[in-house]
Parts: sequence; C-alpha cells; structure tokens
Amino acid sequence: MENRSQWGTRLGFLLAAVGSAIGLGNIWRFPATAFENGGGAFFIPYLFALLTAGIPLLIMEYTIGHKYRSSSPRSFSKISKGMEWIGWWQVLISFVISTYYPIIIAWAMMYAYFSLGTKWGDDPTAFFTGDFLNLADPGTFGSIVPNVMIPLLVVWVLVLFILGRGVKKGIEIANRIFIPTLFIVFLIIVIRAVTLPGAMEGLDAFFKPDWNKIADGSVWVAAYGQIFFSLSIAFAIMITYSSYLPKKSDITNNAFITGFANSSFELLAGIGVFAVLGFMAVQSGTGVAEVVEGGVGLAFMVFPEIISQMPAASFFGFLFFASLFLAGLSSMVSISETYIAGVQEKFSISRGKAVLFGGGLSLIASLFYATQGGLNLLDTVDYFINNYGVALAGLFEVVAIAWFARSLQDLQSHADAVSDIKLGIWWRICLGIITPIVLGYMMLQNLKTDLTRPYGDYPFEFLFTYGWLVAIGVMFIGTLFTLKKWPTKDNQA
Ligand code: ALA
Repeated sequence: MENRSQWGTRLGFLLAAVGSAIGLGNIWRFPATAFENGGGAFFIPYLFALLTAGIPLLIMEYTIGHKYRSSSPRSFSKISKGMEWIGWWQVLISFVISTYYPIIIAWAMMYAYFSLGTKWGDDPTAFFTGDFLNLADPGTFGSIVPNVMIPLLVVWVLVLFILGRGVKKGIEIANRIFIPTLFIVFLIIVIRAVTLPGAMEGLDAFFKPDWNKIADGSVWVAAYGQIFFSLSIAFAIMITYSSYLPKKSDITNNAFITGFANSSFELLAGIGVFAVLGFMAVQSGTGVAEVVEGGVGLAFMVFPEIISQMPAASFFGFLFFASLFLAGLSSMVSISETYIAGVQEKFSISRGKAVLFGGGLSLIASLFYATQGGLNLLDTVDYFINNYGVALAGLFEVVAIAWFARSLQDLQSHADAVSDIKLGIWWRICLGIITPIVLGYMMLQNLKTDLTRPYGDYPFEFLFTYGWLVAIGVMFIGTLFTLKKWPTKDNQA
C-alpha cells in the first residue's frame, strides 16, 4: 500500500480534479441546457442539484478514494464484496466516454487551425458536415475520414504520454500547465465577448427567468444530468483521483472548492457564449432564441459563423478552440485514468502495460467515430451513456452505499477526521433520501421519453445497438470483471 502514487501537493490534486470537472460539458453543454430549461430560472434546479447531489456525492467519492486508497472497483469491493461490480460498471462507462470524447478534442484541434484565416468559408455548417466530416446518413458508417483520424491519433499520443508518465509527473504536471492557461485564455474570450455590440441582448436572454419551467420535471432532470457529467461524478473518476491523496488531506473543503470552481467556470462559459450569441443576433437582425444551439452545433457550426463576423477573427477563433482543446484534454486524461488504475490493480500489471492495453483498446474503438457516420454514432452513444450510464450508476452508487452497506456514518467520520468543515446530518439526508428520490424520478422520466419517441429520429436498430445495448451492456460486462479475484498483494500505480 505504501508505494501508491501520490499527488505532489494539494494544489496539484485540486488542479487535476478541477481539470477533470471543467471539460466539454461546461463549454458546449451548459449554456444551451440552461437556456432551453428556463434561462435564469434554471439556476434554481441547478443550484439545488449542485448542493444536494453534486457536492455531497463529490465529498462521498473523495472520502471513498481517500479511505480505501484504491481504484474505483477495488474501493467498492473493500466497502462490500458484492459492490465491486458497481465500480467496474462505472469504469466501463468511463471507457465508453473515452472512445468518443477525444473525437471532439480532435475536431477542436483542427478548428483551432481552421480559425487561422477562417478556413470554414461563408457556410460553416456546410463546411463542418460536408468538407470536414463528409457526414453519412444516420445508420451508415461509410469510410474513415482522414481529417478526423489524424488529429485523433495526435490526441491519443498526448493522452497516453501524460498517463504513461504517472500521477505526479504526468497528470499533475499536465494540469498545472493546462488549467491556468485555460483560465487565462477563457477570460480573454469572455471579456472580448461581453464588449461586443449586442452582448447585453444575449445576456438578457440567458438570465431572463422563465418561472413556468420550474414546474416542469424535465428541467430538473436536465439540471441533475448536467451536474453529474460536469462534476465528473458517478463514473469512477473522482474516486480514482482522490485515491492518490496523501493521508493527511482535507476532503470536504477540497470538494467544495472543486464544485464551486466548476460551476463558476460554467457560469463564465454561459456568459461568454450568450454574449457572443447576442452579437450574432444583432448582426443578423434576429432574436437570440433563433441563433441558439447546443453541443456540436454550437461549437462547430454557430461559433465559426460568429467568429467570422468578429474583429480579429482568426485570433479569437484560435483562442476559443484552444480552450475547448485544453478543457477537453484535461478531462480526457481523468476519464482514461479510471480504467488504467482498475486494470493495473486487478491484473497486477505495470502502469505502462495498463496504459497501452486500456488506452489502446479505447483508441481502436474511437476509430469508429472517425468514420463518415461518426457524428451520429457520437450523438447516440453520448446521449444513452449519460442518461442510462452516468445517472443510473449514480443512483445505484448512493443506494448501495446509503441503504445496503449503510456506510454513510462511517464515511462521514472518516471525512470529518481530516477536514476543516464537519459534515452534518444534511449530508446523509441529501445522499440517503433526496438524491435517490430525484434520480429515481429522473430515470422514470427519461424512460418515458425514450420509449415513446426515438431519440434524434435515428433508425430503431441503430438506437438499439449503439444506444441501449452499449449503455445497459456495460453494466453486465462490469459483473464479468468480478469473477477474477484481486491479487493478494496490491499492485500500485
Ligand atoms: N466533467 C467533464 C466534462 O464536463 C467530463 O466534460
């Protein structure tokens, strides 16, 4: 146990945890989700989800990692043997995410280059789906797209290199460079954005509360979904990262810092994105609602169009895509570290072998998204793995720990012994009662929606194979890993 890798400093851990949390979810998912779910009024369910589920779960995961000092599956198995599969399930969810996440980082890398001279031309949408992705019809894959495959391989080399160097020399150093750079670059973008003509119209649209939306269950579902993905909880990441904490480390304070840093960045991203959308709306003489888009559409179709109209277009385009690249890369490293730690401990192999095996397998799978049908595949896998992977695994995690293992009191004592802020009964109520009820409701809502209309109007077979089967399949594959016994001597990172 004693030779387990450790973070060099508290700041090193915090930068890595914040680097994991701040990712593509903050920049491209949050602004549109907030806007579509009530604008300013969305902050109520969002804050509720952050305070009753996000931060309490983060504290719980940090405590589990710190107490058991093992990968997620091994930590769960130390709480109760029967819970190991939840750890593997979460690791496999991360594995699936790690197959498509680097694709978006690769696109961002190419778009940072395309920004120089706004190479996307007059019609960025046609450029993205046509010239760049050569997009095929939903349900077909077509051939590999070199425009995507080459930067994808570059991203993988970077990720595997960082992971191969280990916790302190690889992950910590990378985050020490990426995160401060990301903050500076993003701040420059936001300052520029809010000083553009029309910015106030955008911010007005973003913050204007639509109170009727609060009564709508789907708005709460969106808030919880956003918090889970954005805070990197319930997919093994934070347990893995906190397992590298030295024994004398504050847990609760670190969780609050991570949670608030992540949400502050999210808010900053919302302000930046809507200021820019306001600019575009004023330029084209339409309302902000007409130009708003989420996800892929926002970053790679709407933004290039806006960037082209901005003064110093190449410079700001480059900064925007560079920040997407940095935010994505630091999260991607954390997503992959989950299975590297798990495989290394289970099969008693060196870090180098685990990186090559785990990363190599994910790399091969990621090539499917570098085909002409890659965007449709990504959209489907992302939707299902979030709704029936991350959120469902979060529900199982809290129920198993609070209700079956009844470990909350024990974990609370552990966290309190090392933390400045002491946890109260509120923490156990949030995890034992509020979170399971809301997540349970969320599951039913999601099922109702997805069983009554096919997501994204994709063909049924496509959704079944790459949506349902992938998301639910990993739960069962997770149980297979439990068939092999843990080595008697811990093999450490
Ligand atoms: N937390 C990471 C994100 O927001 C995974 O993208």
